[in-house]
Amino acid sequence: MASKFLDWATKNLLCGSGANEDKPAAVEAPPAEASDAAEPAADEPTAEAAPADPAPPAAAVASADAEDLTPPPPVNDTADADADIPSPPLSAIDGPAVPAMSSKWDGGALIEAGELEGLRLLGQGKVRDLYEVDEQTLLIVSTDRISAFDVVMLNGVPGKGKVLNQLTQHWLSLFEKQGLVPHHLITADVAEMPEVCRAHASVLEGRSMLVKKLQMLPVEAVVRGYITGSGFKDYTANGSICGITLPEGLQNCDRLPEPIFTPSTKADYGEHDENISIEKVIEKLGEEQARAVEAKALSLYKAVAEFAAPRGILVADTKMEFGLDAEGQMVIGDECFTPDCSRYWPAEGYEPGKEQDSFDKQYVRNYLTEVKFDKKTPLALPEEVLKKTIEKYTQIFSILTGTEPKL
Ligand SMILES: Nc1ncnc2c1ncn2[C@@H]1O[C@H](COP(=O)(O)OP(=O)(O)O)[C@@H](O)[C@H]1O
Ligand SMILES: [Mg+2]
Repeated sequence: MASKFLDWATKNLLCGSGANEDKPAAVEAPPAEASDAAEPAADEPTAEAAPADPAPPAAAVASADAEDLTPPPPVNDTADADADIPSPPLSAIDGPAVPAMSSKWDGGALIEAGELEGLRLLGQGKVRDLYEVDEQTLLIVSTDRISAFDVVMLNGVPGKGKVLNQLTQHWLSLFEKQGLVPHHLITADVAEMPEVCRAHASVLEGRSMLVKKLQMLPVEAVVRGYITGSGFKDYTANGSICGITLPEGLQNCDRLPEPIFTPSTKADYGEHDENISIEKVIEKLGEEQARAVEAKALSLYKAVAEFAAPRGILVADTKMEFGLDAEGQMVIGDECFTPDCSRYWPAEGYEPGKEQDSFDKQYVRNYLTEVKFDKKTPLALPEEVLKKTIEKYTQIFSILTGTEPKL
């Protein structure tokens, strides 16, 4: 889910009047942010989360006291001053003026990248802050924010953004080598970025990507090789996921006969993604583009699953995003195949019919369950939970890449 401001920015700054115009009000989020992801896994929004009163974006949280969580999303001062820039959304101009923020750190975690002089903040997602470098180029900064059940927590996991950023790089370069799909990454090496970015190297190092600005397609391309989370919930209710009928008698976490494409909407901030059928995707994108997204998503999933298998890792499901570049070419964008947007399970000990150990936010979810988290009010996670979470993220990074992340 993007923040309201990001949604506005996406429509007005990133996409012009393109495909996102007809973006439906999404209803729920399956794939979790990988949990966010394919439901990813982890948060399993679909099933579990349906906050009546969604948490504000991290930016808003950061600029507020714990008790007062409703300030407007951050807006770079320069946005208002620029005559040819569309007005910000009401949510951004109604409230008190938002002072330029400096980067916000908490216990070694980057909570928001803040104002980066010379770069215009376009908006914030749950984890990433997006800046415009020039008309064709964006800077994506992965912060250490962590969300669970689609709620962004008050503190962050030091280093998590770096792991996500560097793992995304790993996969994009694999896809490039294998000639699977063009990607948006120009460089993740700050030294190769324009001076306006290099000036902020201390914030950006290891956690940022200079990317081609894309017109993002209004669907989340979810692929499942195993059935769990919201997919299993849908299956239990009606024997199918996204209109795909599955064999009878599947258990939670069972391997599917073959990987399936189970797209979802891209929800607005505070909403959850909603699983949709391929027919719905065709309505949004047209037959040709919809089939291209399906084919690309499946081929990338297979490439990653094959890469992970000899390393003892099962890729249960994942979520990716595609967009169109200036030439109208379909390109993979965003993060991809990170533990935030994919469920990674150890092959050892895998056993259908129960939840699997997962290389993601398991500790966070366990803790939140323990404290009876209301799934809407952001809270601060204890040190121990943060520590165990970064250990898991680092571990899966090392298994998959054979190297340590640069934290
Ligand atoms: N190359 C790109 N061009 C334009 N937008 C992009 C590009 N890559 C990613 N995005 C957008 O940036 C945002 C990433 O922020 P994130 O914190 O992951 O958001 P979310 O809360 O939606 O998961 C997403 O809205 C994604 O669609
Ligand atoms: Mg995301």
